[in-house]
Order: sequence, then structure tokens, then C-alpha cells
Amino acid sequence: MPGIISTAPGKTILFGEHSVVYGKPAIAVPVNEKKAKVKIIPDIIAPKDSIQFIASQIDLNQNYHQLEDHHPLKVAVDEVKKFLNILNYPSCKIFLETTIPISSGLGSSAAISVALIKGLLNFVGFQSTPDIISKLAFQVEIEFHGNPSGIDNTVIAFNKTILFQKDRPIEIITPGATFSILIADSGIKGNTKTAVAEVREKWTENPAQYNNYFEEMGNIAIDAKAMIESGNFQTLGKLMNANQEYLRKIGVSHTSIENLIDVAIQNGAYGAKLCGGGLGGNIVVLINENSANRMTNLLLSSGAIEVIYLRLGAGEN
Ligand code: MEV
Repeated sequence: MPGIISTAPGKTILFGEHSVVYGKPAIAVPVNEKKAKVKIIPDIIAPKDSIQFIASQIDLNQNYHQLEDHHPLKVAVDEVKKFLNILNYPSCKIFLETTIPISSGLGSSAAISVALIKGLLNFVGFQSTPDIISKLAFQVEIEFHGNPSGIDNTVIAFNKTILFQKDRPIEIITPGATFSILIADSGIKGNTKTAVAEVREKWTENPAQYNNYFEEMGNIAIDAKAMIESGNFQTLGKLMNANQEYLRKIGVSHTSIENLIDVAIQNGAYGAKLCGGGLGGNIVVLINENSANRMTNLLLSSGAIEVIYLRLGAGEN
């Protein structure tokens, strides 16, 4: 059994985070500039069913059997065993690493799950599909996030720009022009689980108002899909700003996020908004291609700790 390497990209949400949890459509894009990587090598001298996880970035060197029941890595292995209908997995060492910053809205947990599940299936010679990988990774996301919509595992497993809506087939989006997007990290760690729980609490207290917000956010995502397909930068930017207005209303923005958005808009961006769970994390900024360097430097000198340049267009994502 040869060793294998499996990777998965990060992701960003262009439209519709949070409202997607309530069944509304959202748009997500893979971020191949950042990746989770899993290397699996056979361990022929280890006892049966020994899976040693080694993730030096987080000082983890533990066997599958030592992990607590709800540990995401254990859940990923259990889901694969269940799916393959096997009791024991071939003994191996699994090395995990990632360049995706954690707690920043870029899908670090889903990317690890997708890379791991894809690797585990591949290692035993199973020809997997993005759909199978996404479904198994969703089970891990449930352990990790509590009440995920499924958008992260889906966009990462398919590695395509998608319109996602719960319980509906995904729609792949083909941009009508090349869009230049900057993803700027505020340096403040977000917490998707907390953000989703806080929004749920507010929704429970005021369902009519929040349902209305979510409906509007879903409508923005639908309009945005059409603008991406027709290559309309100006309107797409305005839709990002409109989406951000609702994200503010539902209370998931943060002063560090607002500061970066202000800098972007005042310096000519078409639009900007937070991406992912919020309460910190990253923003996405739609820019004119020619201003990429200038805007990157401005964001970095205004507190962003990292800026990724993403081109979204035919053949690029
Ligand atoms: C996912 O990256 C962001 C949220 O929409 C949660 C979810 O969809 O599971 C906030």
C-alpha cells in the first residue's frame, strides 16, 4: 500500500454567511492560495487499527485510540470506516499540516476534514467523489461547529465557486469576467460556533425581524450570482456593502473589521464585507485589478496582518 498525499483549499464566503444556516442561498469560493495537506504512510510494524496522527503545528502526536470520542480527527476516521463498512483501518501514520489560518473564516476545520477524508478513502484505494467527501466531512463539521449549514465542506470538497443552499443541489457559478478580490485578515480571531449561537439566540428572541434579515441576505446572494455571471463589478460591490449592512445588524461585525472596510471603501474598492462567521477574522474586498498592490499595502498599514489576492474568473477558481 503506497503512501499518499491529499490536499484541500481554504474558502471564503462572498455572500450569505449566517443566513445560509437558515436555508437561504449563499455564494462561496475556494481559496487555493491556502491549503490543508495530509500525508498518509503505511505503518507495517504497528498493531492492528493503529492510526498515529502527527500535527507538529499544534503539537499533536496521538493515536486514534487515545483521542476523545468527539475529536474531529476521530470522527473523520469513524465516518470513513462506517462508509467503507470496515471495522479496522489499515495501520498508518497521518501527518497533517495547513497554511490556512485558524478561526479566521477561511474554512480551516473543513479543509482539514476534507483533505483527511479524501486521503483516508484514497489510501485504501476507494475512488471517491467530491459529493461523498463533502457528505462525510459534514458529519465532522457538525462535531466542530454544532449547527453548520454545510457550505464550507461543500465548496472545499468541490473546489469550485458555488451557489449553495441547504438541501438543494449546488449550482456551479461561471464568472463572466475576472474579478479581483483581496482577503484581508483583521488579526482578531473569530469564532464561528459562538457567532452562529449568538445569532440563533437573537433570532429566537425576534424571529420576524431576523427572518426578514435572512430573506434579504438570500435575495442579495441571488442577485450577486447574476452579477458575477454578467461580470458587473460595480453592482457586485454594492451588493457586498448591502450584505455587510445586514451582517452589522445581526451583530457579527467587529471594530477591526469595520476599520478595514472603511479603508477599502474610502480608497476606491467596489465593495467590502466580512466573510465567514465574523466577530473578527477576514474581510473580502472587491477591487479594480490595477489597484491590487496599492490596496494591499493600505490594508496592511491599517492593521491587516495578511492579505491574499484572489482572482475569480474563467479557469481561475
Ligand atoms: C460558514 O463559514 C459561516 C456561517 O455561515 C456558518 C455556516 O454556514 O455553517 C456563519
